[in-house]
Amino acid sequence: MSAPVDPTTTPAWEKLTQLAADLQPDLRGWFAADPGRAERFSHTAADLYVDLSKNLIDDAVIAALVELGEQVGLEERRDAMYAGEKINVTENRSVLHTALRRPRTDSLVVDGADVVAQVHEVLDKVYDFANRVRSGEWKGVTGAQIKTVVNIGIGGSDLGPVMVYEALKPYVQSGLECRFVSNIDPTDVFEKTADLNPATTLFIVASKTFTTLETLTNARMAREWLLRKLRDAGSLDGSERMDADAISKHFVAVSTALDKVAAFGIDPANAFGFWDWVGGRYSVDSAVGTSLAVALGPDNFADFLGGFNAIDRHFAETPLASNVPALMGLLNVWYVNFFKAGSHAVLPYAQYLHRFAAYLQQLTMESNGKGVRTDGSAVVTETGEIFWGEPGTNGQHAFYQLIHQGTQLIPADFIAVATPAHPIKDGDADVHELFLANFFAQTKALAFGKTADEVRAEGTAEAIVPARVFPGNRPTTSIMAASLTPSVVGQLIALYEHITFTQGTVWGINSFDQWGVELGKQLAMQIAPAVAGDADALAAQDASTTALVSYYLANRDRG
Ligand code: F6P
Repeated sequence: MSAPVDPTTTPAWEKLTQLAADLQPDLRGWFAADPGRAERFSHTAADLYVDLSKNLIDDAVIAALVELGEQVGLEERRDAMYAGEKINVTENRSVLHTALRRPRTDSLVVDGADVVAQVHEVLDKVYDFANRVRSGEWKGVTGAQIKTVVNIGIGGSDLGPVMVYEALKPYVQSGLECRFVSNIDPTDVFEKTADLNPATTLFIVASKTFTTLETLTNARMAREWLLRKLRDAGSLDGSERMDADAISKHFVAVSTALDKVAAFGIDPANAFGFWDWVGGRYSVDSAVGTSLAVALGPDNFADFLGGFNAIDRHFAETPLASNVPALMGLLNVWYVNFFKAGSHAVLPYAQYLHRFAAYLQQLTMESNGKGVRTDGSAVVTETGEIFWGEPGTNGQHAFYQLIHQGTQLIPADFIAVATPAHPIKDGDADVHELFLANFFAQTKALAFGKTADEVRAEGTAEAIVPARVFPGNRPTTSIMAASLTPSVVGQLIALYEHITFTQGTVWGINSFDQWGVELGKQLAMQIAPAVAGDADALAAQDASTTALVSYYLANRDRG
C-alpha cells in the first residue's frame, strides 16, 4: 500500500510553520485595519452562512491552508471517495455515504451495481413502511395503531437518529413518539418501556452488523417485554404461532446482515437493508433513519437527504478557497497542529440541537482518533482533537469560563438559526432575540476580549484587574441558517462529515474504520464469566481487575 503524503514534508506545511511562528494574534487590530475582513472570510454553503473571520487567520494563512489541501491531494481523495474507490483500506471498502443522498435520477456504478438505484429501492421500502405506520394501516397484533416507535441501536445506529429526532421535534407527526434504547445497562430498556402499551409499540432494531452485544441484548429484552405484557393483557395465548405473529407486527429491523435478522426472528420482509460501504457513524441518512422517516414522514426525510446532497455538491464542486467544509477542516488542522489545540467546542444556540455535540463525538473521534496512517505507518502529527459542547446558553454558565480565560486554546463553532421554533415573548421582549444576542456577544467577547485599561475604566480595584481581563483572540466560527428545517439539519451533518474527511486526509489516516473499539469488546466477553462468579475466570485476571470484580461480587445486592 502506498504511503499517504506526509503533510509535514509539503511546502505548505513549511509555510504554515513559519506563519504560525510569526503570527501575533490581534483580532481587534485586524478588524479595525481591514473593513473587508468579515465579508472576505465569510462564505455560504447551501443554506448555511459561515463566518470564519473571527479565526486566527489572515489571507496568507488561508492561502497556505488551501495549498496544504492541494498538496496532500484533498480534491483527488474526495473524488475517489465519491466515485466509490475503496479508500477504507483496512476493511477494503468503498466509502459512499454521499450516494445515500443522491437524487433518483443519478447513477453510480460500483463493482457492477448501480448504488443509487439500490439506495432508492430501499428508500421506497422505508417510505412505504413509514406511510403505513403513520396512517394507521400498519397495526399491532391486537389491531391497535402504533403510537410509539422504539429504536434499539447503539453508536451510529442510535446517535444520529436521536440527534435528528430531537432537532426536528416540530416536524414529528402528532400522536407519534420515538424513543431510543442504546445502553446495555438494563435501566435504559426498563425506563424507556416502563409506561408503554405493548399493543401500540413498534420496535426498530437497528444494527449494521446485527452482532452488537448491546443491541441484541436490548432487542431480546424488548421482545421478552412485549410478549410478557401482551400475554398478561390476555392478547396472546402463549402459542408459538401467536408469539411469532406479535413479533412480526411489533419488530422490524435495519441491517446490512439480513440473514442475521431472520435468525433473530424478525420477518425479512420487515427488514430494511443497507451496505458495507456505509460507515455506522455515517448512516443516519440510510435505512438507519427509519424511525425518523416514520416520525417526520417521507417528504421531510427526503428534504433532510436533500440537505446532505446540497453540501455534498458544494464540497465536490467549490474551489478549496471558498469550500466551507474544506476550509473548516483545514482550520482545525491549523489549530491542532500549529497551536496544540487538543479540543474543539461545538456550541449550538438552538435547544433542538442539544444532542448535536454528542452526535459529533462519534463522527469526529471514531473517525480521526487514529495513530497510524493508511499504509500502517505511524502518524507524523497530532490527530483527532476532542469534540465537545452543550447548547448555549447552558454552556455559558458552566464551562465558557475556561474558553474565555483558561490557558488552552479551544476553537469553537457557534451555530444558530434566525427563526425561532417557538417565538415566545417575555412580556414585550422577544426571547429568541435575547438568546441570539448571547450568541453574538460570546463570539465577540472571545475574539476581542477586554483589556486591563478597559477593566480599570469601569472602576475596578487594581488588585482584581488581572482576574477581570479577557485576553481575546479566542477563535470562533459562526454558522447560521434561516431556520432549523430538515434540509438544514442534513446540511449541518454533511458539513461536519466533510470537515472530518478533510482532517483525516491531511493526517493521512483512514477515517472510516474503528479498530480501537474492538479490544474492550473482546475483553468484556472474557471477563463476563468472572463477573458471573466463575472462580477460574476471576483468577485469570490481573490484580486490579480481580479486586474490582471481587468488590462487585461482595457488594451486589447489599445496598
Ligand atoms: O463499536 C463501534 C461500532 O462499531 C460503531 O462504529 C457503530 O456505529 C456501533 O458500533 C454500532 O454497530 P452496529 O450498527 O453494527 O450495531
